[in-house]
This record gives sequence, C-alpha cells and structure tokens, in this order.
Amino acid sequence: MSEESSERHLVLVGLMGSGKSSVGALCAKRLGRKFVDTDHMVEASAGISVARIFATRGENEFRELERVAVSAASASEVPLVISCGGGVAIDPVNRQALRESGYVVWLDAPIPELAERATRKSGARPLLAEGDPVATLKALAEVRYGAYESMADVRIDTAGLAVSAVADLVIEAFIKAITE
Ligand code: S3P
Repeated sequence: MSEESSERHLVLVGLMGSGKSSVGALCAKRLGRKFVDTDHMVEASAGISVARIFATRGENEFRELERVAVSAASASEVPLVISCGGGVAIDPVNRQALRESGYVVWLDAPIPELAERATRKSGARPLLAEGDPVATLKALAEVRYGAYESMADVRIDTAGLAVSAVADLVIEAFIKAITE
C-alpha cells in the first residue's frame, strides 16, 4: 500500500441533527480530502431522495442501499471524510467496515438541540416526519447510543457549538490520533 492509501478515513457518526454533513464537509475542506456522505451516495445510486426511497420502497431497501454505500466508502483507496446517516451504526457489518478503515468520531448533543437542528429543513428526514421529534430521537438514542459508543474512537459534545468550532475539535482529535 502507498503511504497515501494507508491513511485512515475520518468517519462521522451520530444521530440526526448532530451536524455530521456540515462538519464533515468543512473538515474535508480543511484537510484537503474528498468528502462523501452516505445519504448522498444512496440518493445518487437510487436517483431519488432519501425521503422518496422511504416513501416508495421502504426503510429496509434504504438500509440495503446504505450498506452498499458504506462498503464502497470504506473500501476507497483514497482517504476520505465520510459522514454517515444516523442509522448506519445499527448494522454490525457497517460498524466493522468503518472501524477497520477509519477513525470514528461520534458527534453528540442534547436531544432537544438535535431535534431543533434536525427539523430546520422540513420533509428531509422521513423518520422525523410524524410525531414528536424529541420523543423519536430519544427512542432512537436508546437503541443507538450503545452502537455509536462501541464503534467510536472519540465522542465530541457539540452542545451550543457552531459548525466551525466542532470541525476544529474533530480535526484536533483526528490529527492527534494519526500522529501518535
Ligand atoms: C436516518 C438518518 C438520516 C438518513 C435517513 C435515516 C436515521 O441521515 O440516513 O433519513 O435512521 O437516523 P442524517 O443522520 O444525516 O440525517
């Protein structure tokens, strides 16, 4: 393997609203790396939005496409910044592929703050389209926090922080880890 290809990906996980996509894009820019987002990869392969996939094909099919996206991103020879959809961590195969190929950062924040951020753009997140977003995110947190914890190298509390400040913390942790 070349020196370049032996570098680990920088992987962002966490619940909806944790800032993975905006922070990931900024980290990629600062690190001079290519940025990929598993939701965007799924949308590109299906030719329709995540919301449309859920509505017309169902969540199971979305998860299949998501697994393919995670597998392709993890296998990239070029070191990437990979932002993962919030549900990526529930699949053990996804967790292993990302852990093996990347440095995994769990972005977290208090549930009300996640709910506020995740519902700014209405209709984009099918799992929050009905019911109370705070209650839904709490239920998802109960199921997923163990999975995020088990795969993450570090957890970063993003409460009250702007995207740029979170990117600073992510890059600081990442650089420290890869230069140790
Ligand atoms: C989901 C999170 C979404 C997207 C889909 C399902 C989830 O991505 O993959 O709506 O199960 O938490 P973001 O976490 O980027 O919003």
